[in-house]
Amino acid sequence: MKKTESLAFERILKLRKELEEHNRRYYIDNKPLISDFDYDIMMNELITLEKRYPQFSSEVSPSVVVGSDVHNQNTGSQFVQAAHRYPMLSISNTYDKAELSVFDERVRKILQVNNVNYACELKIDGTAICLTYIQGKLIRAVTRGDGSVGDDVTRNVLKINAIPRVLSGSGFPDEFEVRGEIFMPWKSFDELNLKREENEEELFANPRNAASGSLKLIDSEEIGKRGLKAIFYHVLYDQEMNYTSHCQLLESARAWGLPTSPYVTLCNSIEQVSAFLDFWDVERTSLPYPTDGVVIKVDNLLDQKILGNTSKSPRWATAYKFKPEQALSRVVSVDFQVGRTGAVTPVANLEPVLLSGTTVKRATLHNLDQIKSLDLHINDMVFVEKGGEIIPKITAVDLSRRDSIVFPVVFPQNCPDCGTPLVREESEAKYYCPNQFGCPTQIKAKFLHFCSRKAMDILAGEATINQMFEKGYISFLSDLYKITEEQLLSLQGWKERAADRFLQSVEKSKNAPFSKVLFALGIRFVGETTAKSLSRHFGSIDGIISASREELLQVEDIGEKMADSITAYFREPSNVSLISDLKRLGINFEEKSSGNSKSNKLAGLNIVISGVFSISRDEMKSVIEAHSGKSVSSVTSTTSYLLTGENPGPSKLQKAKQLGVQIISEAELMAIIG
Ligand code: IVH
Repeated sequence: MKKTESLAFERILKLRKELEEHNRRYYIDNKPLISDFDYDIMMNELITLEKRYPQFSSEVSPSVVVGSDVHNQNTGSQFVQAAHRYPMLSISNTYDKAELSVFDERVRKILQVNNVNYACELKIDGTAICLTYIQGKLIRAVTRGDGSVGDDVTRNVLKINAIPRVLSGSGFPDEFEVRGEIFMPWKSFDELNLKREENEEELFANPRNAASGSLKLIDSEEIGKRGLKAIFYHVLYDQEMNYTSHCQLLESARAWGLPTSPYVTLCNSIEQVSAFLDFWDVERTSLPYPTDGVVIKVDNLLDQKILGNTSKSPRWATAYKFKPEQALSRVVSVDFQVGRTGAVTPVANLEPVLLSGTTVKRATLHNLDQIKSLDLHINDMVFVEKGGEIIPKITAVDLSRRDSIVFPVVFPQNCPDCGTPLVREESEAKYYCPNQFGCPTQIKAKFLHFCSRKAMDILAGEATINQMFEKGYISFLSDLYKITEEQLLSLQGWKERAADRFLQSVEKSKNAPFSKVLFALGIRFVGETTAKSLSRHFGSIDGIISASREELLQVEDIGEKMADSITAYFREPSNVSLISDLKRLGINFEEKSSGNSKSNKLAGLNIVISGVFSISRDEMKSVIEAHSGKSVSSVTSTTSYLLTGENPGPSKLQKAKQLGVQIISEAELMAIIG
């Protein structure tokens, strides 16, 4: 292989891995790390490289496979899966008007016409939903999932007032599907985050995450209180109907009682489309809900049929995405925040400025390199953008507005909290405070992580942890289990009810699954997924403590950096004594297999499941585990079987075929376990 070729291949693999990780954070965790814009830039780079080097193209690349929001792949099932009758495709997108002209030319060429009518619609930034109505009654609501299988969220959707349970008009098909976007208006989003802040719960980064997080709530009652709305934009049916255009169909949907957008506009040239885009790029900021672009659809339904679909998206539609909104503000000062792992992050304090519906006062600067590359000074005017995270980022300094009175940002040499000299490892961009056990900020942040919902789920947020720490009630994680009601009532503002709720959550946390306990310990680089792999592989904390570096490296998803961090953690005597303390206090340090083992017929077998079964996927996993098999999430060379139900994921099938992994059906599995 030529040098340039091998470099391209390396880059392709890296981009695929990163995009897969971002897909997981976006679709499953509802906590994206990067903005859509940055995601799209990475995706475009991947597509360009795959086009230039077709020898490296792959059917399982994230450029081909639709991201999945299906909840229970790694997170434990809450919803039953349902197969989509018609696949729920994604849609091609661009930030570039020139590419729109290319789209228009291709459409006209295929249809052999000079002019095409396009329906232009705002692209609402929520979460996609597919509803089935039979005889005018809502009978099913399914998320997009991976496009072929989604989560059945009917129970929750029935609680959203904006979605009709029974249609009011007439003339609708006996059975049809309607697709649209469930979204959270800015006002509801702000109210929800305010309430969450008061309750010391984690905030949602944006209304889209809030909408999809709400849709997957276990507590259906809560969803009705979140102010969710919906707009529908696509109707599908099998029976003969007289519709000839998309706009006509949308008008009917509105007459049947379904909410549709009032801003759909028919344009008969790409120039008119362009004017629609320019208008909404500005005007969208005054809408009460978030939008991230415009969807442009060929209006004629017969033309849509002629154009058809690629495996990923329809050829009759495309999306033009708006560039992220920017705001200009002045840097007043820079704080240096110490995180749970001791990493020091510079955060700029800004003059308050309105950006995408909320007031921004702070923006992250990531690390020292970032400050240098931006050439950022205090008093500079800077451009701020919202990324995937709650805290916005600074993208550039407006040098043309630089006053003579600017001051350099001085990065501290010592921890701003405990004064310990900071250190920087060669391979890392961040500076760290190495005083893990003595730095108050780090200790408090460790408690916060330990108590968080995805870890031990103890009802204690930042303010509570601060109070307990200041009073000297908590220094070691195990102290949380020793707090008395009396101590709690001595905290400012605490009444009996709050104290009881707190103590109940502490008691309940003793039953947390081992993987959550492991995640809660806050071992560097051990996230939720790694904690799950480790707990499944070793079964108990003792197994992990006694594992050698080599044994750790054999676990799925564990690389050298992680293995080193894990061994370093358990080499530290204070960590070992913390664990024995926690054990004594009744915290669970063993993976409990679901149900008693029924047989050993699947012992030593790694089984990946895909598709819809006669029982839920989680029940299927329990069956595998009850027969001593291991249910794993992705197909690799160590996979024994790919167990497929109805509508299995194409990427898993493809990978299994590539690697020669045996594919079996539910019936075949049942025959094996007898
Ligand atoms: S059309 C085949 N129209 O944007 C039709 N999508 O794929 C594909 N979206 O997550 C979708 N507003 O949920 C369409 N007016 C609109 C939309 C819209 C938002 C979402 C959709 C999907 C993504 C595009």
